Amino acid sequence: KPCPGFCPVSILSIDKYLYSMRLSDETLKDIMNRFRREMEDGLGHGTNPTATVKMLPTFVRSIPDGSEKGDFIALDLGGSNFRILRVKVTQDKKQPVQMESQVYETPDDIIHGSGTQVRALELFDHVAECLGDFMEKQKIKDKKLPVGFTFSFPCAQSNAVLVTWTKKFKASGVEGTDVVKLLNKAIKKRGDYEADIMAVVNDTVGTMMTCGFDDQRCEVGIIIGTGTNACYMEEMRHIDQVEGDEGRMCINTEWGAFGDDGSLEDLRTEFDREIDRGSINPGKQLFEKMASGMYMGELVRLILVKMAKEGLLFEGRITPELLTKGKIETKHVSGDEGLKKCMEILTRLGVEPSDEDCLAVQHVCTIVSFRSANLIAATLGGILSRLKENKGVARLRTTVGIDGSLYKMHPQYARRLHKMVRRLVPDSDVRFLLSESGSGKGAAMVTAVETFYCLLEPHIDWPLCQCLSKPASPHVQCLSARAAPGRGGRGAPFRSFGRIDLVTIGLN
Ligand code: BGC
Repeated sequence: KPCPGFCPVSILSIDKYLYSMRLSDETLKDIMNRFRREMEDGLGHGTNPTATVKMLPTFVRSIPDGSEKGDFIALDLGGSNFRILRVKVTQDKKQPVQMESQVYETPDDIIHGSGTQVRALELFDHVAECLGDFMEKQKIKDKKLPVGFTFSFPCAQSNAVLVTWTKKFKASGVEGTDVVKLLNKAIKKRGDYEADIMAVVNDTVGTMMTCGFDDQRCEVGIIIGTGTNACYMEEMRHIDQVEGDEGRMCINTEWGAFGDDGSLEDLRTEFDREIDRGSINPGKQLFEKMASGMYMGELVRLILVKMAKEGLLFEGRITPELLTKGKIETKHVSGDEGLKKCMEILTRLGVEPSDEDCLAVQHVCTIVSFRSANLIAATLGGILSRLKENKGVARLRTTVGIDGSLYKMHPQYARRLHKMVRRLVPDSDVRFLLSESGSGKGAAMVTAVETFYCLLEPHIDWPLCQCLSKPASPHVQCLSARAAPGRGGRGAPFRSFGRIDLVTIGLN
């Protein structure tokens, strides 16, 4: 469109304009090494208290081996939806896992819940109410099924204490509190059903366990969705926070906090800083804010505003819609939508885009989403190269379980991520396994083992437990020391037992 002084921006000049978002292989290798150092700090005794990447021990010591059985409820809170699932695990070869699930709305005021302590209780009252509704619909309100709780936030696993809220959540009075206690209290207050919350599982761990059920080689779980994070199997001898040197334990890295100590300052752009300033947790989760789905639409919007202000887009037109936070959603950035759809979205913002504008905006979206894939390839590369070193092999053969809306919905994301990982960790054969069913199946696996342990523990001596945990058994499982009647309780050293076939637990 003719407009004096307006120069439609070319793809090449966008590349130049956003050069700080286009990370070279050298830079990515550098990020990978920085992340490896952060991991070491998180694992070390002296360095853990001040480490930004928390490397939380999960007390999960092996992936499922297919002998798990039972009937479970899995709660899934903290991703894009709040879901409740019923998971039946059987020995049926054709269909070992049957699941039924329901999504429940969680109103924003409950999620953000600022103000009084009461707000915290409102969130857990809501969870308890939905669970009651689900059990009613499943006709199991009179039963006491074991419940696995996928809680997708950093938790000190030995006692399920929420370290900090992330993403959109901010309900006050929960940080520093045991979330199982809060949920139990809410359930008890209702009094219309009973539930046994056996395990609290991060979604990364649930994903690794879900994928591990199908592929025994799976030893990493990652989420690229609203938030981002990864867990992996670390050698016990490297985990200073937990006693014992034998075998491995799953570590929840909480890599979203990478950079919170300033270690990514040289890579954060003015747009990243603006996103952080406008967020509910400034200064926190800085890596997550550069890479995860929750912030991607907003990052693109901020770039478009700046380009429009400089006359590089929309003939310099700036509308109130374009200036409104949240008006460009990540699903628009990551949709396989083509020029027509792009035109439609921009038209809704009132900027009267030309074809060139649409092409330019699509290119901005590509740069922002490829930066995310590259950054995650770098941190994942850090984990993989550590695994390789731990195993002392010349070539790493492993499987990474993945879930998350951004990874699943974006048409080129997976390809970009896989390609970069292979470039950054060349001596590796990495299989990426999409978790088709979320983390619920995995949460049920952890619950299966925990339930079994709870039933069994009064009958095994502590020395026998220790003996069973010897690495002679490849399937050693260990459980978080959740307090339960008759057990060692909180703070007790973790206990583990060998792979004993799980008799049917739960209610069949
Ligand atoms: C949380 C993690 C979680 C990730 C993906 C992050 O914001 O801190 O615990 O695994 O989001 O849901």
